[in-house]
Amino acid sequence: MSSNRISDENLPAEQESAHAEVERADDPFANPGMPAHRPRIQDIDERAAKRSERAVAAMFTLSMLATIGFIASFVAFPVDKIVYIWPFGHVSALNFSLGLTLGVALFAIGAGAIHWARTLMSDVEIIQERHPIEATPEVAAQAKKDFLLGSAESGFGRRKLIRNTMFGALAMVPLSGVVLLRDLGPLPEDKLRTTFWKKGLMLINQNTNEPLRPEDVTVGSLTFAQPEGLDDHNPDFNNEIAKAALMIVRIQPSEIKDKRELEWSHEGIVAYSKICTHVGCPISLYEQQTHHVLCPCHQSTFDLSDGARVIFGPAGHALPQLRIGVNDEGYLEALGDFDEPVGPSFWERG
Ligand code: FES
Repeated sequence: MSSNRISDENLPAEQESAHAEVERADDPFANPGMPAHRPRIQDIDERAAKRSERAVAAMFTLSMLATIGFIASFVAFPVDKIVYIWPFGHVSALNFSLGLTLGVALFAIGAGAIHWARTLMSDVEIIQERHPIEATPEVAAQAKKDFLLGSAESGFGRRKLIRNTMFGALAMVPLSGVVLLRDLGPLPEDKLRTTFWKKGLMLINQNTNEPLRPEDVTVGSLTFAQPEGLDDHNPDFNNEIAKAALMIVRIQPSEIKDKRELEWSHEGIVAYSKICTHVGCPISLYEQQTHHVLCPCHQSTFDLSDGARVIFGPAGHALPQLRIGVNDEGYLEALGDFDEPVGPSFWERG
């Protein structure tokens, strides 16, 4: 703060003071000078200082408890729970509790910091004359000294209770944001790696909705199938049927080049995922002479007589094969799930 009054260096002190009196009387905007400093109760009574310290620590502790309440509310209240709270009426229990606890957590930190500054930090007012922006080495050294003095006066190092509870409160507030990650939805767990297929499920013809027998699959035909037991009332039905979609062809066993493919087939009948491993289009074109299937989206081509490896196009991975056999009643059945994720390649395949 700088003085508006320009002092006359040639006047003796008494004359200058009298001059200032006259000037103040004439000029209502004259600098009235600093008010006398009055010490606070905390400055002269150590017990009062302790009380203030406990009050500040209590506010930071309240902030921590409110943050814990925020997290507990997030876990405890379902999204659709409505409660009546006077005077707000019917409100979402989750939204109300989140807003209340987060508000208290932030308010308590602010209130604690203000109370700390007003009651325990130094309140001696200091006049600092204006100076050039660039600090001289002496000023820089003085600033450092003042900083260390301020730090000592604030009791930051000495009042460990305040310091530690403040660190605790500041460290816990961001946890509120961490639990909000739950809104991104449940983790996929193994849903990306598994399908509805499992050992013993019959292959159901998607056109007739009947279980398939080996004799229903003729050379040159392309048959689409799904697992038995898919419930169209299941909310996940569309996902399940899309992931489990199967295409079945019959190839002369002597023409099957891949040893594992032959082992996983039944009398030359092979079953592969219908979902292209490029970006997931359904494969629908089959060329009997070459045993190639073609994806209509970007022309990826797979050789069904050689482990469905990619022979053309952008797909980066062979189609997953389903191991099949025949059950006691003579119907085609799965002998397990696909041995790898169906559809577009994702991170674990590189
Ligand atoms: S989705 Fe099949 S080639 Fe692109």
